[in-house]
Amino acid sequence: MLAVAPSYAVDPAPDASAVGVHGMVVSESEDAARAGVEILKKGGNAVDAAVATALAVGVTNPASCGIGGGGFMLIYIAKTKAFFGLDYRETAPLEARPDMYMRNGKPDEDLARDGILGVGVPGEIAGIDAALRRFGTMKFQQIAAPAEKLADDGYAASPHLAGEIAQLAPKLKNDPGLSQVFLKPDGSAPKAGDTIVEKNLAATLKSLGNDPVTSFYHGEVANALVAFMKAHGGLISATDLANYRPDWRDPIRRRYEDYEVYALPPPSSGGVVLEMLGVLDSGHLPGLGINSPPYLARLIEVLRQGFIDREQYADPAFVGVEIQKLLSDTHILELRERALHGKSTTPPPAAAHDHGTSNLLVADKDGNVVALTTTINTVFGAKMSVPALGLILNDEMDDFSVAPGVANAYHLEGEIANQVRGGKRPLSSMTPIIVTKKGVPVMTAGGSGGPTIVSGVLQVALNILAFHLDAASAVAEPRIHEQAAPDVVIVEASMPAATRSALEQMGYKLKVVPELGAVGAITIAPANLRGAFDPRKGGGAIGY
Ligand code: DON
Repeated sequence: MLAVAPSYAVDPAPDASAVGVHGMVVSESEDAARAGVEILKKGGNAVDAAVATALAVGVTNPASCGIGGGGFMLIYIAKTKAFFGLDYRETAPLEARPDMYMRNGKPDEDLARDGILGVGVPGEIAGIDAALRRFGTMKFQQIAAPAEKLADDGYAASPHLAGEIAQLAPKLKNDPGLSQVFLKPDGSAPKAGDTIVEKNLAATLKSLGNDPVTSFYHGEVANALVAFMKAHGGLISATDLANYRPDWRDPIRRRYEDYEVYALPPPSSGGVVLEMLGVLDSGHLPGLGINSPPYLARLIEVLRQGFIDREQYADPAFVGVEIQKLLSDTHILELRERALHGKSTTPPPAAAHDHGTSNLLVADKDGNVVALTTTINTVFGAKMSVPALGLILNDEMDDFSVAPGVANAYHLEGEIANQVRGGKRPLSSMTPIIVTKKGVPVMTAGGSGGPTIVSGVLQVALNILAFHLDAASAVAEPRIHEQAAPDVVIVEASMPAATRSALEQMGYKLKVVPELGAVGAITIAPANLRGAFDPRKGGGAIGY
């Protein structure tokens, strides 16, 4: 059954979630979820299906992710009851310098966002290859086949993609590859439902064969990418590509009530979610009531403390992040004291949302689970593509701090720990999680939307674990976001007016936005998999 939830749904119909007996794939793209299910039905496991879905969503939502980007995968293998974390985040080129975005003594944030200097060394293909080699059962070409077909034959633009193209059309016009593929010949944007064909991307995917790393990082794709960099003043060299390696990282975990929550360590923000769940543990949240003013006030204070600690996060290869200390009972108790009894200050407002990035979730018949979040960062990444490859370049360098105190696209202020260095990975908000009870996975979630991923995944997890909502209701509930600086609480317009004014009366400065990020979830029980993707971004959950 396919779930297409209404937009801005607060109280979705019960059938907004898909139910699966054997397997479940949840993605922001219905076509991509179908690609994953196709692989599951052919006998592939959750890793095969997750990779197929990731490649397909890279075709059908090219504004959010693709082979020019990178991400994180959290994998649970049922046979060994073991968790694995894969970091295939983009990496700064070796020539990158802390002052590379300074012009005339001032930081120029736009340089990290739009254009060639925003591009990090892509990790997507290396990550996919590493996951498949370790846990997959199929070859790359078999898994890439649905994505190749979508790119070759074309697919219907989702309302979300059509909206993003329309919004970005003035920038897409300036790039020969993007305008040719995503704009009509007269320069106008396609409508939802119009067919988009990505022939060059289909050819690139085919050309990768069954050893995609060789071509992408050492062969023809690498040569084309480096030639493009040289022609456009970019920094990525043949050495950068040849040196790129995804990192297997031990997942981190923390208890919440009767559950163990697993996430990825830095440069993912998984630890922030775990820390906040730790603070809220035994908080008797159900008694407060879902989205009640006292519950939200508690959440706001906990989010604030979590984001303050996030400032210590960075690439662990460059900066020692004391993640175990941050997750220790001593620290959590301190935070709980501060969050629940402290008083907060209040500087200036800003909105922190757009809709790049893509999360997908897979549960298979053997009990394996994959939570995967991948991105090219802001919508259409660097707004540049390598036309012959059909490859859209990421602008992941914007996730570094351009200079201390300077805010990035998500109003996250730069910290020294996260400053640019050659070979370093920028801090990410991407936070796929898997939750177990008595050692067995019971739910998984992940999202998109910059720092609202952290608050969104936290709230959806609590909606399921503390308030016992089903997946569809959990993702559809109105959400808030708070990230310490700027100290304004961002609230979705669907949050009841009475709740908003109660928060204002408590002294919180609110900014109301139409929506905050997009989160997907699957609840997992024997032969009863319930999945839902966020009605805010469309997409689908397909079970079988
Ligand atoms: O890794 C990060 O935190 C960002 N590059 C994620 C960007 C994102 O979610 C885009 N959508 N708002």
